[in-house]
Amino acid sequence: MAEGQWWAVALTEAVSSEKPLPVVCEGEELVLFRNAAGQAFALEDRCPHRRVPLSPGVLTPGGLQCPYHGWTFDGASGVCREIPNLHADERVPARHAAKAFLVAEADGFIHVWRGSGAPTGVLPSAAYRPAGREYSGSAVVNMAHCNYLETMLDGPECLLAFPCVTITDFFLGEPRRDDKHLVLDHGGVWKGKGIGPAFVRDHPLVLRTRVPLVGGAIFVELLTAAEVPLVTIFIASTANRRGTTSLNWRGFRHAHKIPSAPLAWQLRRAAGRAPFEVLAEVKGASIAALRVAPSLNLTSRTRHEAECRNPR
Ligand code: FES
Repeated sequence: MAEGQWWAVALTEAVSSEKPLPVVCEGEELVLFRNAAGQAFALEDRCPHRRVPLSPGVLTPGGLQCPYHGWTFDGASGVCREIPNLHADERVPARHAAKAFLVAEADGFIHVWRGSGAPTGVLPSAAYRPAGREYSGSAVVNMAHCNYLETMLDGPECLLAFPCVTITDFFLGEPRRDDKHLVLDHGGVWKGKGIGPAFVRDHPLVLRTRVPLVGGAIFVELLTAAEVPLVTIFIASTANRRGTTSLNWRGFRHAHKIPSAPLAWQLRRAAGRAPFEVLAEVKGASIAALRVAPSLNLTSRTRHEAECRNPR
C-alpha cells in the first residue's frame, strides 16, 4: 500500500497560467501553475540548480522558468527543458529535474499527492457537494495545525462565526468516530431570539464539526435540531511554516426555508450575503479559556500530538 495522501492545497481559481502560486503543504514548499490549456501542475518550490525558489519565476510555453539563471522546468515531470545560452554541442543534463507532484483538480480545489507509490483513496473534497451559491476564501492563521484541528473539535466558536447564530460551548453528546473523522456536536441558538445562550436549555441549532484523524479535511455543518442542514463548509487545512496553518475553504447555504429563523437570516439570504465566516484572526485568550477538551481524551490523535511536539 502506498504511503501518502491527497492534500487540497489551493482554491482552483487561485491557480493561473499568468503567475505561479507558492503554497506550503505540511511544511513542504510547492509552486502551483497552469499551462495555456489550463492544466494544473505542482513542483517543489526549489530550483534543482541552486535551490532558489521557483515561484518568482515566469511561465513560458515550456513550463516554469527559474528567475535566477532562466532554466525552464516541465510542469508534469519537472524535467529541465531548456537552459539559455547553451553551446551547440551542449545538452540539458537529464539529472536536473525539479520534484514534480501529481495534481488532481476537483470540487473547486487543487489537490496534490504527497507520498510514495501510486495515489490511492478519494480526494479530500469528495464528500463536499455544493447545492447553492458558494462562498470561498483562503487564510493563514497564527496557530499550529494540530492545535487548529483540536480547537475545531473543542471550541469551533473560536474559529468560525455565523452572523445570525451563537455557537455555545455546550456539547451535544460525546465525540464519536465517523469513518476517517472525529465528530462532535455543539449547541447553537439564533441571535436576537429570546434569552441569551448562558440560560438556554434547548438548542434549536447544532454545529457539527468533523475533524480528520489523518490529513486536513475539515467538514462543518450547521443544522437544525431536527437535522435539517442550513450551512455546509469544507475547510482544507495544512501545516504552513513556523507553527501556522493554511486554510482554503468553500461553503454554501442550503435552500431550506426555516420559519423559526430570525428576520436577519432571511434578509442576509435575500441579499446573497455569506452565512458564515472562517476567522483569519484567532483570539488566543478565547482558545486558552476552553476548559473542556474532548480531543485530549482521544488516543487516536497521536499523529497530531506528535506534530505539536515537533512543530515545523
Ligand atoms: S538557480 Fe535556477 S536556474 Fe540557476
